[in-house]
Amino acid sequence: MKREKLLAANWKLNLPAEGIAAYCAAMRGRGAADPELVVSPPAPFVDALVNESKGAGTGFGVASQNTSQHDQGAFTGEVSARMIAGLGARYAILGHSERRTLFGESDEMIGQKLAKAFDAGLVPIFCIGESQETRDAGKTLAWLDAQVKTAMTTAARSFSRLVVAYEPIWAIGTGRNAKNPEIQEAHQAIAGMLEGLVPDDCTLSILYGGSVKADNAAEIASLSEVDGFLVGGASLVSASFLSIWGAMRR
Ligand code: PGA
Repeated sequence: MKREKLLAANWKLNLPAEGIAAYCAAMRGRGAADPELVVSPPAPFVDALVNESKGAGTGFGVASQNTSQHDQGAFTGEVSARMIAGLGARYAILGHSERRTLFGESDEMIGQKLAKAFDAGLVPIFCIGESQETRDAGKTLAWLDAQVKTAMTTAARSFSRLVVAYEPIWAIGTGRNAKNPEIQEAHQAIAGMLEGLVPDDCTLSILYGGSVKADNAAEIASLSEVDGFLVGGASLVSASFLSIWGAMRR
């Protein structure tokens, strides 16, 4: 398995205060494409972001924050992976802990969503992570293993690109990022769990997420098993998101 660096912004149900045009101009103006940048706006803005990503300057990838496990039908409020791919987005965040805890998404459902995303040609940014309770009980790795195995075996697809985001629930939006040995241990274990579930020729990125900011990014990015980040709060201002990108290039 080849590994690739990537940095993704998750705007959640927010828009940058500086405005989409100014934010995207900053993304395009960064001067280099490596590591790849991906921005995930709320669904109604995917189209606008795809158009902005193609303007003059260095492009960036666009992701949806969720896609349906269904292609079409009587599913009010849903958006399909094909619709998102049809807009020109390349990625879809799937299984974010907020989707799991607030909207009842199970590992099986996330597996079905992964399957639809792969079928539509999208690259999933597949999120996993444990609660504080699970960590305190010493069951983190078993929890992550179950999340990975159930979703990937439900998806049962062949693919050439996968992004996994390890996001401990207790670190999301709390200002408490995981400690370096905890991150390194989880990432190493996740890479092992994926062996046999991911095609040998697949390009993989394992991102860390949870209170990543410009001032802790360089240290976490230096861990050998960390390929990048999925960033929430600190991705809402282009300057702070781009300083994380800068920290990854050091
Ligand atoms: P945070 O969110 O960076 O605000 O902790 C990360 C995420 O939920 O993806």
